[in-house]
Amino acid sequence: MSSVEELFRQGQSEPDTAATEAAGEPDSGAEQGATPAETAPQQPTDIGDPSYPGPIAELTSVTRFFPGPPPVNALRGIDLTVGRGDYLAIIGPSGSGKSTMLNTLGLLDRPSTGTFLFEGIDVAGLSEDERAGLRARAIGFVFQSFHLMPTRTVLENVMLAGTYAGLSRDEREPLARRALDRVGLAHRIDFTPNTLSGGERQRVAIARAVCTSPRLLLADEPTGNLDRANSESVMRLFDELSADGLTIVMITHDEAVAQAAGRRVRINDGELTVIE
Ligand SMILES: Nc1ncnc2c1ncn2[C@@H]1O[C@H](COP(=O)(O)OP(=O)(O)OP(=O)(O)O)[C@@H](O)[C@H]1O
Ligand SMILES: [Mg+2]
Repeated sequence: MSSVEELFRQGQSEPDTAATEAAGEPDSGAEQGATPAETAPQQPTDIGDPSYPGPIAELTSVTRFFPGPPPVNALRGIDLTVGRGDYLAIIGPSGSGKSTMLNTLGLLDRPSTGTFLFEGIDVAGLSEDERAGLRARAIGFVFQSFHLMPTRTVLENVMLAGTYAGLSRDEREPLARRALDRVGLAHRIDFTPNTLSGGERQRVAIARAVCTSPRLLLADEPTGNLDRANSESVMRLFDELSADGLTIVMITHDEAVAQAAGRRVRINDGELTVIE
């Protein structure tokens, strides 16, 4: 599991999430009482260039090989350019490499071979601290299973993103309130996640992902756990964020959801094809 997802999962006790995503994965140790707010780095290394004029992400001949056993070639020579302001959907069957590619874009995983430039920076040359700093400041994540902390309020969950980005409490709270207002949940800030609907939980997760104004929003099956009505409300939110200029890369199994994106690519067995 990726480090950021691991952090978001800390303290998580929702059985559906545990069953679908944590199978076979090491316990994060969250039950010991440590919370991301307490363990997050105070001041992430500042790196990356929000005004870089070229593509925000550029993958060239990227492969990802898992030695196993059994060995898996999850990505087999991916070439992909994500321009600033793009809204890209990635579709493909289960096990085709979608999450592996998204994790690579999110600096949660490293290519085995090939090059990944983020805002022109070859990320292979960055230290772990630099990667974490870039991730905290430049990239927002939304997952199928929300990964909200059940014992924290909605506001506290969203403020967590500011903690990762190294912001003070005074800076974090107004940003979190603004983001929750933005997703239409200003009236739910003191609720805990388990009192919210699935659609509301995902909107909290989106608020958390965008509250520090990332340059890239990565979403792995953001509507996968939602019914049609909630899925549509989340998609409307993505449309608005895209219209505001946010760069979005979204994985989906749902063709209707993929239609909302400006650009679509398909992965089959680790290989990418463009959908016309
Ligand atoms: N950490 C890992 N170690 C070993 N193999 C892995 C690892 N992560 C992914 N794989 C393998 O890589 C392949 C691609 O996995 P990935 O999670 O990217 O698929 P996916 O397209 O996201 O599938 P799904 O739609 O089911 O989420 C799969 O065969 C998977 O078993
Ligand atoms: Mg996946």
